[in-house]
Amino acid sequence: MRKRTLYMETMGCQMNVLDSELVVGQLTSGDYALTDDMTTADVVLINTCSVRDHAENKVLSRLGALKKPKLNNPGMIVGIIGCMAERDPDGLVDKMPHVDLICGPGELNKIPAMIEDARELRQRSIALSQSLSRKSTPIERALEFDSVEALDLSRAAGIVGNPIQAYVRVQRGCDKFCTFCVVPFTRGPERSRPPGQIVDEAKMLVDRGALEITLLGQTVNSYINQDDGQRVPFSELLARLNDINGLERIRFVTSYPGDFGDDILMAMRDLPKVCEYLHLPAQSGSDPVLKRMRRQYSVSEYVELVARAREFVPGLTLASDFIVGFCGETDEEFARTVQLVRDTRFKNIFVFKYSERPNTVAEKRAVDDVADAVKRVRNIELLSVQERISLATNRELIGRTVEILVEGYSKRAMKAQEAEQTRGEEISSEISSQLVGRTRTDRIVVFSGEIGLAGRLINVRIAGATALTLHGEIVERREGERLPGTIPIGVNIGG
Ligand code: SAH
Ligand code: F3S
Repeated sequence: MRKRTLYMETMGCQMNVLDSELVVGQLTSGDYALTDDMTTADVVLINTCSVRDHAENKVLSRLGALKKPKLNNPGMIVGIIGCMAERDPDGLVDKMPHVDLICGPGELNKIPAMIEDARELRQRSIALSQSLSRKSTPIERALEFDSVEALDLSRAAGIVGNPIQAYVRVQRGCDKFCTFCVVPFTRGPERSRPPGQIVDEAKMLVDRGALEITLLGQTVNSYINQDDGQRVPFSELLARLNDINGLERIRFVTSYPGDFGDDILMAMRDLPKVCEYLHLPAQSGSDPVLKRMRRQYSVSEYVELVARAREFVPGLTLASDFIVGFCGETDEEFARTVQLVRDTRFKNIFVFKYSERPNTVAEKRAVDDVADAVKRVRNIELLSVQERISLATNRELIGRTVEILVEGYSKRAMKAQEAEQTRGEEISSEISSQLVGRTRTDRIVVFSGEIGLAGRLINVRIAGATALTLHGEIVERREGERLPGTIPIGVNIGG
């Protein structure tokens, strides 16, 4: 029998990337095969993001593009899944009546059944989690079985995505309710997954070849669960994962600056597999702005945490997120953010122009009064301050030898290969065979090498640097020689 075809498109954060992988895994282990042609697919799913207005507009334009193919092929099932489905199902249906399936991020395990319902009953199938209660404490919630947990547990059935670097969810939802943020509304209350299930999932991924695992949670450091009556905080979860044979690197995102205990810093210092990298969104460098955002820390507490983290974890790199032009942000308040970025010397930062989101506290009680032109100027200024820092800190690495996990061809090489294949352009083999890898500190290194190195840990010497990328050369080593703290080429490849 011909398999049905599934087209999946993913927008937004790493959590969405993982959700899409799990949904695709569920469907392709059944009747479906993936296709990259949206117009002829039997099922089209768009996994959406609501965090900024721009992301939602992109979804609407993709849906608009599906109107005609759906008219030509009325049997096609068009599904909107993820945050936008949860946030505004009625608005979606009003604007896009040709949508057959609407599924929030907490219900994704139901998708195979929902597709069948939509097909057989010829009516729209909807699953949302709007009723999830926040009354209990995070640990009480962690002990309740969440039906969507079945989605993560289904992972054994079919693994898609990158086998070497895998995501593992440790926590769902968020309880922080920063005044600008829609995530607590779309992803529901904070729930931590059982530690045993996380460890089993990580082991299974390592058995299938994973060398690096990135743990995902909105405020991953506030992870808390129980096992045999014993509390399992995030530091203990890291320790259990560190014991997995064959696993080489553990990362985690995103950390919330408010609940960051020294136990986690000690775990980062003492557990060899936990990488020296933190994504620690500051959002602003001004106390009044942080207060209006209802971030539960001050600038000085953030700065102290960074100092402590650097003291505990030598060589630590930091990344951060900032919002510019939040309600009422003055030039003076923005200048404090610039100062924080100058002083902290992040590896990189993500800067977002404030985008008002429906139903958030900021939408209800504050005014989005910073002109878009001002937001744009602040965005550019903050990025240019960071660019100089990124360049300077990257240059400091020139001449040093670092361990990288090779990911495959670089973006530039892939573009060059495409130009060669589709337009017959002649491109130097140095460019079309360029590889990319990542250091433990999440720095990107490009270098020349054989594609067979993909998925291996190797040592490269840094020969050049731009603000975004390091240029490396493979270190030649004599038989048996091993640089301290590194793994010889060809060993520990897993799988
Ligand atoms: N803790 C989450 C945060 C999700 S949103 C995580 O990183 O997984 C990611 C980033 O988007 C936030 O850190 C914030 O900088 C930005 N952001 C969130 N809401 C926003 C809004 N309304 N406008 C602009 N940027 C926003
Ligand atoms: Fe959003 Fe703040 Fe949670 S940014 S995801 S409400 S920590």
